[in-house]
Amino acid sequence: MLNMKISIILGTRPEIVKFSPIIRECVRLGLDFFILHTGQHYSYNMDKVFFEQLKLPNAKYNLDVGSGSHGQQTGKMLVGIEEVLQKESPDVVLVQGDTNTVLAGTLAAAKLGIKVGHVEAGLRSYDRSMPEEVNRVLADHASDYLFAPTPKSREILLHEGIDENKVFLVGNTVVDALHQNLEIAQSKSQIFDTLGVERYQYMLATAHRQENVDDKKKFSGLICGLQKVQREFKIPLIYPIHPRAKKQLDAFGIDSAGITFVEPLDYLAFLQLEGKARLVLTDSGGVQEETCILGVPCITLRNNTERPETVEVGSNVLVGTDPDRILEASKMSLDHKKNWTNPFGDGKTGEKIVEILERKQDINWSQK
Ligand code: UD1
Ligand code: UDP
Repeated sequence: MLNMKISIILGTRPEIVKFSPIIRECVRLGLDFFILHTGQHYSYNMDKVFFEQLKLPNAKYNLDVGSGSHGQQTGKMLVGIEEVLQKESPDVVLVQGDTNTVLAGTLAAAKLGIKVGHVEAGLRSYDRSMPEEVNRVLADHASDYLFAPTPKSREILLHEGIDENKVFLVGNTVVDALHQNLEIAQSKSQIFDTLGVERYQYMLATAHRQENVDDKKKFSGLICGLQKVQREFKIPLIYPIHPRAKKQLDAFGIDSAGITFVEPLDYLAFLQLEGKARLVLTDSGGVQEETCILGVPCITLRNNTERPETVEVGSNVLVGTDPDRILEASKMSLDHKKNWTNPFGDGKTGEKIVEILERKQDINWSQK
């Protein structure tokens, strides 16, 4: 029986989704754990709605750091997380993914000598201009348990010199989350009626990456590409717009006629829409994975990806933000066969991670 105390540190929409299977497993086994929310995401539809829908226990602490520059945001988190960790003295801290919350959580814990488990370790875009790439590299190299989702991510970690005893190939909790919620989404979500669209008679887009939406030329190209695709296929193109992207779209005054913008959607509605889309266009990491698992063709509005498995199995194409490339790739993707295999595991990743923590709890890496 696991007798260690676990601190789960999260702060953004994808972390809540991808941590949900691990949190559910901790609850199921009656483990001693608590959630520390940094407050990086705070709008109802980017945060609370996911806790409610996924029926997750409330965070014991919320640091309410909110938005700010990278330094301000990460610095505030570091101070707040350190205080909580000193008070609670957990045996292990879990972080997930590549956000500023992950960087701050890892750093605070590592400096206090608390073991860190990094869920979704070993992803690399090899593009250091992305804040996420810096965060994931630093988190991996300061972690004690590296939960790699695929053989490729495991290999990357070993090539970077990380001790193989610290690396665990477990799959990605995104599969668990999908398996646990897809059926509920199908029975509960009214999103098709709400939006007035028919299954397979629309396309879905999401884009929020800093390097895309904070750059006027790139964001204009991306939007123009979406408009071209909508005009070509003559079916609605629905874009649940992330607050960062909305702010930038307004600030740049980009013409976006023809695109159906909606507020960020709750998870069940989004899953429904994603699963029955003709095509998904995105720069999101999680959406590249989910479309691959759901058998929906994906066009990635970036020139690189830290999820190359999706491209290799044939579910995903990288096109960047050039309008004509977006259109051409979209035309080709619709003809794709959709019988690729899911490279992200069997949907038991949450259980495996908790089981590994249990098995390895007495290991003291510094004495190895
Ligand atoms: C962050 C992550 C990114 C992840 C994304 C998931 C980093 C460096 N980036 O990007 O990797 O893909 O979350 O969605 O950690 N805002 C709101 N309400 C909110 C949250 C944000 O209005 O609840 C607006 C604010 O104007 C804010 C902007 O969105 O300035 C950006 O938020 P921030 O958390 O800094 O980064 P994301 O773009 O959300
Ligand atoms: N998502 C959602 N509603 C939306 C857009 C996305 O529930 O309107 C979910 C999606 O299913 C996935 C996660 O949010 O699980 C992806 O988050 P995001 O794209 O913000 O971050 P990234 O994965 O790029 O870090």
